Amino acid sequence: MSLQVVSRSTVDTQMLGEQVGRLLDAGDLVCLYGELGSGKTVLTKGIARGLGVAYERAVRSPSFVLMQRYQGRVPIYHADLYRLDRLTDIADIGLREFLGGEGVAVIEWANKLEAWLPAERLEISIAHQTEETRLITITPQGARYRQLLKQWQSQTMSCGETCGPGGDNVEMASA
Ligand SMILES: Nc1ncnc2c1ncn2[C@@H]1O[C@H](COP(=O)(O)OP(=O)(O)O)[C@@H](O)[C@H]1O
Ligand SMILES: [Mg+2]
Repeated sequence: MSLQVVSRSTVDTQMLGEQVGRLLDAGDLVCLYGELGSGKTVLTKGIARGLGVAYERAVRSPSFVLMQRYQGRVPIYHADLYRLDRLTDIADIGLREFLGGEGVAVIEWANKLEAWLPAERLEISIAHQTEETRLITITPQGARYRQLLKQWQSQTMSCGETCGPGGDNVEMASA
């Protein structure tokens, strides 16, 4: 099962992230896919806000340090693997200790580490449609994340336009 959402603005994408962030908990893993400028960092800002990070404006692509930690309700470990191109680098970043631990891990360009990451994860792919619209595909891998997605769906559907993912700006379709 995967779910598709059309985001029509930066704010829409951030709001979607915030809704997901509220449902995340310690040990969770979110893998983000999509080309440069698709909105992975924008989504991560929303996730951070949903996790209660006070200064989510500080959330930016950690392209030079590979990993940043923000303190929210639980810690959030934000990695950006864009510049990672040698397998040897993977050992260097010590990602393993951030997985399944006391925090939430959010990984941009997760495709670069695909085989090394736990199979159970929430996958979110973002694709450009136009300058301002994005097709966002959410795929839960494993029971924990299927449950999370169900929870998200029931919340966004029951509250309709007032607090849905951008209200009527977002179309939902099962894929
Ligand atoms: N619907 C949208 N969702 C997310 N970002 C959008 C959207 N429309 C325009 N943008 C812009 O696209 C850019 C996405 O940048 P960023 O999140 O850093 O991408 P990535 O981390 O995937 O490289 C931002 O400048 C953002 O304002
Ligand atoms: Mg980024």
